[in-house]
Amino acid sequence: MVFDTTLIPLAAGRSGDDPIFSLNAEARKRAAAGESILNATIGALLEDDGGLAILPSVSDAVAKVDPRRAASYAPISGEPAFQQAVIDDTFGRSPLNKFSVAAATPGGTGAILHAITSFLEPGHSILVPEYYWGPYQTIAAHTARKVETFTMFDDEGRFNLEAFDAGLSKQLERQGRVLFISNFPCNNPTGYSLDDDEWEGLSEIIERNSKSGPVTFLLDLAYARFGAAGSERWVEHVERFAHCAQLLVAWTASKAFAQYGARVGALIAVHPNPSERERLKAAMGFACRGTWSNCNHQAMVAITELLLDPEKRRRATGEREVLKRLLRERVDAFNQAASGTSLRYPRYEGGFFVSVFTPDAEKTAARMRELGVYVVPLQGAVRIALCSTQASEVPRLVAALEEGLKAAGGEA
Ligand SMILES: Cc1ncc(COP(=O)(O)O)c(C=O)c1O
Repeated sequence: MVFDTTLIPLAAGRSGDDPIFSLNAEARKRAAAGESILNATIGALLEDDGGLAILPSVSDAVAKVDPRRAASYAPISGEPAFQQAVIDDTFGRSPLNKFSVAAATPGGTGAILHAITSFLEPGHSILVPEYYWGPYQTIAAHTARKVETFTMFDDEGRFNLEAFDAGLSKQLERQGRVLFISNFPCNNPTGYSLDDDEWEGLSEIIERNSKSGPVTFLLDLAYARFGAAGSERWVEHVERFAHCAQLLVAWTASKAFAQYGARVGALIAVHPNPSERERLKAAMGFACRGTWSNCNHQAMVAITELLLDPEKRRRATGEREVLKRLLRERVDAFNQAASGTSLRYPRYEGGFFVSVFTPDAEKTAARMRELGVYVVPLQGAVRIALCSTQASEVPRLVAALEEGLKAAGGEA
């Protein structure tokens, strides 16, 4: 018997393919057929030989977890030691530490899902800059929410505080609440990190607007550990508004511990009032039970040890420093090769990606594919994964970008 699927109409028209994964598959197929391919689509840090960069200390810790403990269910919101370890890792000695509660989530993705479903009504929109991680939109659509953007950069190429202020206050007036997702330091896809002046401006805007209604600020820390020196000062800036706006942090081991598949993450919520913290904790626990129930226990135990045991922590930090240096080399190589060309891109000081502006991203990316170079087309820019491009390949990448821009009628 043949019958039509019983998918509801909203779900029936959905694309199951992430466009980045499709491009990556095409690049791999051509490479396997013997072509010389430069695949700058992959969002994971690769060694120069193309293998996934990992931290051996993490693999050791995962392997040493007692098998019965690994096989058992983790508590719904994660082990208390894990919760406190990620709070300490995020806030250190900041006064925000003691005002924080956390729940384990599968990576930052799970934390973002909880933030969207627990802090925004169905039908409402999240607020993000125009360059944002695509799955924010997927998660919003999947949970009957939407996305609203504001112009990310001003005429001088700096974070557009004016547009942020206007977007935030308009949304607050219309929706009666705001959930702003901020993916700094090391924004995906632009690589942009806010400097101290920009953080100060942003914090002032949040503090001021929170007087007109409930503002939630979610900091998606995905790539933060790979930021330039000084980028960790975001903590001091958010202290300014944590008394009046709901501060949330999406913490993840995916990039910081190069443990993408383990799905270890957490949502941290900060509130000065103990009874509000209890409500936050309960809401997060409920959301965990209502989605994935509980997270990967083995990796949670291992990451907790790496965060708490001074010797293991030192080893992991040292190994991460090696990876940071590898990425730093590529960032420097890109800035060097692009200087003197007409490529336009935001200030890039660290992080897995950078984006180059183009009047027609599809044309630019298509021309680059003809040259065997794969990047991800976005609205108004192409995203380049330096995390998966060795420094010696950067001149080829930049030359292809110039060709791609020409094909799009851009300046190069
Ligand atoms: C900006 C951003 N946020 C969050 C994530 C979530 O990653 P994970 O769920 O593995 O922590 C990613 C992963 O690519 C990302 O790029």
